[in-house]
Amino acid sequence: MSPETILHALAAAVPDAGITFDVSEKYQGDWLMRAGPDDAPLALARPKTTQAVSDLLRTCHEHCIPVVPQGGLTGLAGGATPVKGALLISLERMASITAVDSVSHVMTVEAGVPLQAIQEAADVAGLMFPLDIGSRGSCQIGGNLATNAGGNRVLRYGMARDLVLGLEIVLADGTIISAMNEMMKNNAGYDLKQMFVGSEGTLGIITRAVLKLFAKPQAMAIALTAHATYADLERFLVLTRAKLGGALTAFEVMWPDFYAQGIARGQGAAPLPVGAGAYALIEASTSDDSAESQLGALLEAGFEQGVIDDAVLAQSLQQAQKIWAVRDTSGELIKAFTPAGNFDVSLSTSRIDAFVNDCRARLEKRWPGVECYFFGHVVDGNVHLVAGNFPDGDTLALEEAVYACVRDFGGSISAEHGIGLQKRNHLDYSRSAAEIALMRHIKAALDPRGILNPGKVLA
Ligand code: FAD
Ligand code: LAC
Ligand code: ZN
Repeated sequence: MSPETILHALAAAVPDAGITFDVSEKYQGDWLMRAGPDDAPLALARPKTTQAVSDLLRTCHEHCIPVVPQGGLTGLAGGATPVKGALLISLERMASITAVDSVSHVMTVEAGVPLQAIQEAADVAGLMFPLDIGSRGSCQIGGNLATNAGGNRVLRYGMARDLVLGLEIVLADGTIISAMNEMMKNNAGYDLKQMFVGSEGTLGIITRAVLKLFAKPQAMAIALTAHATYADLERFLVLTRAKLGGALTAFEVMWPDFYAQGIARGQGAAPLPVGAGAYALIEASTSDDSAESQLGALLEAGFEQGVIDDAVLAQSLQQAQKIWAVRDTSGELIKAFTPAGNFDVSLSTSRIDAFVNDCRARLEKRWPGVECYFFGHVVDGNVHLVAGNFPDGDTLALEEAVYACVRDFGGSISAEHGIGLQKRNHLDYSRSAAEIALMRHIKAALDPRGILNPGKVLA
C-alpha cells in the first residue's frame, strides 16, 4: 500500500485526526525557511485530541511515514519546515486552556494554545506567565517548549524549560506518556519531560503541558537609554544589575544600525535620536509601586557616572509599547533581505563587544557592502545578527564565517532558536563528538525508525 492510501484509510477511520491532502501555503514553512519544490509534504493532519495524535503516529511508525510536527510556524531554524513525503501534524486545533489553579500557581493547557492567550489567561487570574517573545501572538506553547524558547525575561524567570512542571508527550510509536506533574518537587526518577523540551519535534509530540505561574508584578516600567559607546553601555549594565537586583526583568540591546532600521520601519517619532553608539531597553518589575522610581533613580545614577548620553522613561503604556515596537522589528527585518543571514548566538556577556566587532570585520572584509544588524537579549549572553546585501548563493559561506567566529569565542551557535535544518551542519561547532553521539543514541532509542522530523537537529 502506498503512504497515500494508508493515510486515506486513516482519515476515514479517525475523523478527529483532521487529515487533508490539500496542504495550503501556510504550512509550507516556518518564519525562516520555505519547503523547496522537492520537499513537498504528502498531507496535513490537524488532530483534535491526544488519542488522534497517537493514532497518527502509530500508523506512521508502522509504515515508516515521516512526520513533521508544526506549532505556530514562527520558528527561526527551519524546524517545522516540511520534508519530502511527510505528514505534517499541526497542533492548532488543540488549543484549550483546561485549568488555572491560583493556589498552586499552575496552568494546564493543550499544546496548540498561542503564547499570548496563556499570558492573558494568567493575567485575568491575577498572575503572570513570564515567557515573552516577539512572536507571542502566533507561536504556540507546544512550539515554545519544543524549541525551549527564551526571549526577553530569561534573566529573571528562565527559559521555557524552567517554566514547565509537567508534559504529555506522544512517542514515535504512538505511546502516550502522560506526565502532567503539578509539583515543584518531584525527584522520583529521571526528569523525563526535560528530554523533550528543546528537542524540536525529533523525539516526540507534545500534546499538553502544566505551566508554572508567578505573582503578577504590581508595577512595570520601561526606559530606553542611548550610550556614546558600547563600553559605556556595559558599565551601565553592571550598574543596572547592582541597582535593580531582582526588579530587572529585561535588558535588551540594539546596536546603532539596528536601532536606525527599527525607527525607519516603525511608525511615529523616534523615542531617542539615531546616531548613538548603542541603545538599551530596560524593564523593571516590582511587587509594589516602585518600578518607575527605581528606574528613574537608575537613570540618574547612569547620567551622574557619565555612562548614559540620553534616556527616556516611558510615561504611559502607549509609550512603553512604542519602545518595545522598535525592538520587535526583528521579525520583519529577517524577511527584508533575500538572501538573508539570521543568527542567534550566545557568548559570555563580557565577550559580546569583542565578538560583534570581530564578526562584523570578518564579514565586511569578505563581502564589502554587507549590512550587519546586531541586537539581542545580551544580559543573558544572547546576541542576534541579521545580515543582508551579500551575493545570492553565499548564504552557506556567510554562515560558516559567523559560526567560525562564534567557535573562536567559545560561544554557542544557537542560544534560543534551535538547530532545525539551518544549523545542523554546524552542531559540532558547539557540541563535542561525545555529546552528539549521545544525542544519536537517544534519538535511536525513542524513534528507532527515524520518522519524527527527519533531518532536523542531527544531519
Ligand atoms: P514552530 O515554528 O511551528 O515549530 C518549531 C519547532 O518545534 C519545530 O521543530 C517543530 O517541529 C517543533 N514543534 C512545534 N510544536 C510542537 C509540538 N507540539 N510537539 C513537538 N514539537 C513541536 N524565539 C525565542 O526563543 N526568543 C525570541 O525572542 C524570539 N523572538 C521571535 C520574534 C519573532 C518576530 C519571530 C518570528 C520569532 C521569534 N522567535 C523567538 C522564534 C520562535 O517564535 C520560537 O522558536 C517559538 O518558540 C516557535 O514556536 P512555534 O509554535 O511557532 O513553533
Ligand atoms: C528576537 C528574535 C529574533 O529576539 O529571537 O527578536
Ligand atoms: Zn531573541
